[in-house]
Amino acid sequence: MNMRKRLVLGNWKMNGSRQDSRDWAGAAARIATDHPLIDVGIMPATVHLQEAQQAKGNSPLWLGAQNLAAYDNGAYTGEVSAQMLLEFGVRAVLCGHSERRQLLGDNDSVVKAKLQRALAAGLIPVLCLGETLEQRESGATESVVLGQLDSALSQLQSKELERIVIAYEPVWAIGTGLTASPAQAQAVHALIRSAIAQRDAILASLIRILYGGSVKGSNAAELFAQADVDGGLIGGASLVPSEFAAICRAASQDG
Ligand code: 13P
Repeated sequence: MNMRKRLVLGNWKMNGSRQDSRDWAGAAARIATDHPLIDVGIMPATVHLQEAQQAKGNSPLWLGAQNLAAYDNGAYTGEVSAQMLLEFGVRAVLCGHSERRQLLGDNDSVVKAKLQRALAAGLIPVLCLGETLEQRESGATESVVLGQLDSALSQLQSKELERIVIAYEPVWAIGTGLTASPAQAQAVHALIRSAIAQRDAILASLIRILYGGSVKGSNAAELFAQADVDGGLIGGASLVPSEFAAICRAASQDG
């Protein structure tokens, strides 16, 4: 068992009603309370943060957001700032999710700006990295993942780096039912950790690297058993409380 406390985050994406978010958050709060050996968090739609905050009560459940503005408060119509997220008790925020990179214009420089805004506000950025199927098949996985990592983290100091969580999410495994094999996930996680170790070996041994992409109750244990997999970023299965609970149970087992 390594020193890193496992972390399981549910990214609800653009799903559910306000009532669903209340119900899912209540269930997740109970799951977090039942699994004190790990950290558990949820990332509802921004407009459902208030429901989730109320339903979470004073349980240890982390509240997270799926996105933030790359700017401080000001004339940015339609955006939501880090400061606004903090008022809902938000603790962590996704930066660079592949859906935002691919569909919503978050290129490397936007991802970096968002990550820096999150850090400046005291939020935990969850930096998402991952290659497409085409990139994997052409042998570009390493260069894509390390390029995204380097672009986002290059100018950060160690004291900032230590507040970051990384999520490896191969694009071809997101919402497809195709999961990276435990060996495929481990290989990329080890690559990410060794790239960070080149800058700071102690930090690399402490930073949490989550796997995301079709994680379910039935495949979670074998993924979390890998030496460099420190938990999961869960999409579809986080919308089903019994599945999310099974994943958190798997993460609570000794690795
Ligand atoms: P799925 O678990 O639905 O594949 O989604 C993964 C993901 O994108 C989490 O951020």
